[in-house]
Amino acid sequence: MPKILSEAAVAQYHDQGFFFPVPALTGDEAAACRAELEAYERNTGGPIASNLRHKVHLLFTWANDLVHHPRILDAAEDILGPDILCWTSTFFIKEARDPGFVSWHQDATYWGLDPDDVLTVWVALSDAPIESGSMKVIPGSHKWPQVEHRDTYHEHNLLSRGQEIAVEVNEDEGVFMPLRAGEASLHHVKLAHGSAPNTTDDRRIGLAIRYIPPNVRQLKVRDSAMLVRGTDPFGHYDMEPEPQSDLDPAALAAHQDAVARQLGALYQGTDKTEFRA
Ligand code: NI
Repeated sequence: MPKILSEAAVAQYHDQGFFFPVPALTGDEAAACRAELEAYERNTGGPIASNLRHKVHLLFTWANDLVHHPRILDAAEDILGPDILCWTSTFFIKEARDPGFVSWHQDATYWGLDPDDVLTVWVALSDAPIESGSMKVIPGSHKWPQVEHRDTYHEHNLLSRGQEIAVEVNEDEGVFMPLRAGEASLHHVKLAHGSAPNTTDDRRIGLAIRYIPPNVRQLKVRDSAMLVRGTDPFGHYDMEPEPQSDLDPAALAAHQDAVARQLGALYQGTDKTEFRA
């Protein structure tokens, strides 16, 4: 028996590569996370950016709580099984009337993870209606082979390389995944997806949490991850520590080490040494 998803939802994920909405957080929990993020942004004078957008659960206790949230992990367990590592967590924020967009892509393209049992739980910390540039997916595309991508490094593209699928994607096949604050969507690492700019007057804030079972290998670098449920009998990753307080020296050091490894994987073959925007 699945823990939080229906059997039909689990079947849809495996057949179509996505499922939504999952009732992950209460509205109050989502609002509390948003308030924490925005307090940090007020203190630092701008939106969270560059390397700090990634592996945020190593920096902030509230983000660490989020990647350990029982309902989120129950959804992950329904898809991946009882042993779960958190590989990364990344903010995808579109400001009000922001030209930022995400081109059509398969996440698996540069990540180096094998096999492709990699689940993203995309948690909405604000409402994310279609007009805010919600995610759009191509059902069943997780069964495509890895498609060739070209790097654009486009100014307003939120992806690490501005990568986009090098062949035409039929927009008419796309399915939007609008969410309300606190809801989550699930998608497979090879599912083709993208999103448009935010045309609303509020920020659209999502945290994409990437989970793997511990048998999944990182082929590009010696990587690190955090065990968040069950056990890891494989040892393919160095274990990351949970932050004891927000942005404390140990958390910052652990984050720097972990992000350096991730940069080594995602930007392999380029001269990039930090995440864009
Ligand atoms: Ni993606």
